Amino acid sequence: MKKEVSISAIKEGTVIDHIPSNVTLKVAEILNLDDVAGIISIATNLPSKKMAKKGIVKIGDKLLTQDEVNKIAVIAPDATVNIIENYNVKRKLKVLLPDIIEKIVKCSNPNCITNNEKAETRFYVLNKTPLKLKCHYCERAMNKEDIVLL
Ligand code: CTP
Ligand code: ZN
Repeated sequence: MKKEVSISAIKEGTVIDHIPSNVTLKVAEILNLDDVAGIISIATNLPSKKMAKKGIVKIGDKLLTQDEVNKIAVIAPDATVNIIENYNVKRKLKVLLPDIIEKIVKCSNPNCITNNEKAETRFYVLNKTPLKLKCHYCERAMNKEDIVLL
């Protein structure tokens, strides 16, 4: 008997594929799926030809918009997002870096208001590759290696 892991195909919804395995749960968290009525399946540590191990998030009955997809750009820029309609892949979206990143990333300045009061972080994207962000509050510029997720 052939033994392999499979996660059911979905009829309608969004499949986020090729997520670096270790950020899969974070991707689900950022997408804020609490109010989704359809079935949500999350899998990690799946074998993949393209990468070491991948994660997948399948969101039933919800078609993510480009803006919603872009929220995962800091942690999963190379994920593939598939919009499924009637069991077919109708569209594939690229994950694009938004101009402003809210929440998600922590400011590296310990004196920043966002590290001392209940203010949500907000960064402007100064440069996409390599990623460079600037804090809206304290104006601290951060390079890719300074970026810590909240
Ligand atoms: N998928 C799904 N339900 C469907 C159709 C597709 O869950 N009804 C999933 C597939 O399992 C896959 C992803 O959506 O994880 C993309 O499907 P497809 O484009 O058919 O697969 P690939 O060609 O392997 O994708 P890629 O181009 O990203 O390599
Ligand atoms: Zn700051």
